[in-house]
Amino acid sequence: MKTPIRVAVTGAAGQIGYSLLFRIASGAMFGPDQPVILQLIEVPFEKAMKALEGVAMELDDCAFPQLKGMVLTDDPRVGFKDANWSLLVGAKPRGPGQERADLLKDNGKIFTAQGQVIDEVAADDARVAVVGNPANTNCMIAASKAKRLTPDRFTAMVRLDQNRAQAQLAKKAGVDLTAVKDIFIYGNHSPTMFPAFAHATINGKPATEVINDSAWLQGPFLETVGKRGAAIIAARGLSSAASAANALVDHVRSLMTPGAIHSVAVKGATAYGFDANVWAGVPVRTTTPGSVEIITGYEMDDFAKAKIAATNKELTDERAMVAEMLG
Ligand code: NAD
Ligand code: LMR
Repeated sequence: MKTPIRVAVTGAAGQIGYSLLFRIASGAMFGPDQPVILQLIEVPFEKAMKALEGVAMELDDCAFPQLKGMVLTDDPRVGFKDANWSLLVGAKPRGPGQERADLLKDNGKIFTAQGQVIDEVAADDARVAVVGNPANTNCMIAASKAKRLTPDRFTAMVRLDQNRAQAQLAKKAGVDLTAVKDIFIYGNHSPTMFPAFAHATINGKPATEVINDSAWLQGPFLETVGKRGAAIIAARGLSSAASAANALVDHVRSLMTPGAIHSVAVKGATAYGFDANVWAGVPVRTTTPGSVEIITGYEMDDFAKAKIAATNKELTDERAMVAEMLG
């Protein structure tokens, strides 16, 4: 039997957790022949821990062959102990009328504490993926607390935005989703994010030729993808959960697959003009499991450069807002 991968998940009794854990345990994230141990972390309140017990009962009842153990805890030192992957989902979601950055003051402190504990107790090969909003800046906060783990171990998720952009392009072109390739997300997981449509292809042709409607690409397309989270909150009364969990499965699976090309928020995307200290979405290629190189070859026209400058500014503004939490 392969050695089990220890996967710590915060917010395990929350909405995303309820969609995510079953996908991890079924093998969707690490492969059907890879055993996993789930280390489930919640807040120290009876209601949350009771709900977590219920989720664990359901995981038992699925009889997933690759689920080799579960730890249920409200103590991050126990939950992150020896974790190979730490999936930081637990945080407050926004409500109607809020932007994700409005959550920074409440959520930021969660990530200062967790970054420190992960650095102290997680496995030597620890990798961290941040989902709790605002994800890019929370990731920066967590990474800033690490002394042992280098910044490249910390990623934030923009895969939901990539999936959304791919789906919108396919719908507009009237093609199967799989015909759309090379659509990548630059910058912040916020309405300023930039899905670089000029590099996308549809059935091997430039998406801009197949769709041939620059007003739509520069307007409603960007608007729909950038504000999709808010549209879901308005419709459901709750933020996206199943699609977010699915995107996290994609994010980690692509990071574990050498050769995979995908959008991830990482530090150091200066080749595209991002500040050296922020975590910005960019296209990456997975080199070895858990490690990536930024794909730097994409040319940006003036429209794209202006969009990247705007999302970079938002990221540096968020960094300034949390300056006292860093380091
Ligand atoms: P939720 O409120 O349903 O669940 C969050 C859970 O986290 C709760 O059970 C809560 O008790 C727990 N929690 C809070 N603080 C914690 C801590 N310090 N340690 C451990 N657990 C903690 O929320 P949700 O819908 O699951 O969303 C979780 C987060 O993910 C939100 O911040 C949301 O905005 C974000 N999100 C991000 C994306 C993305 O693409 N990056 C997509 C969807 C949602
Ligand atoms: C999303 O994009 O669906 C999430 O970030 C939730 C939100 O607040 O929009």
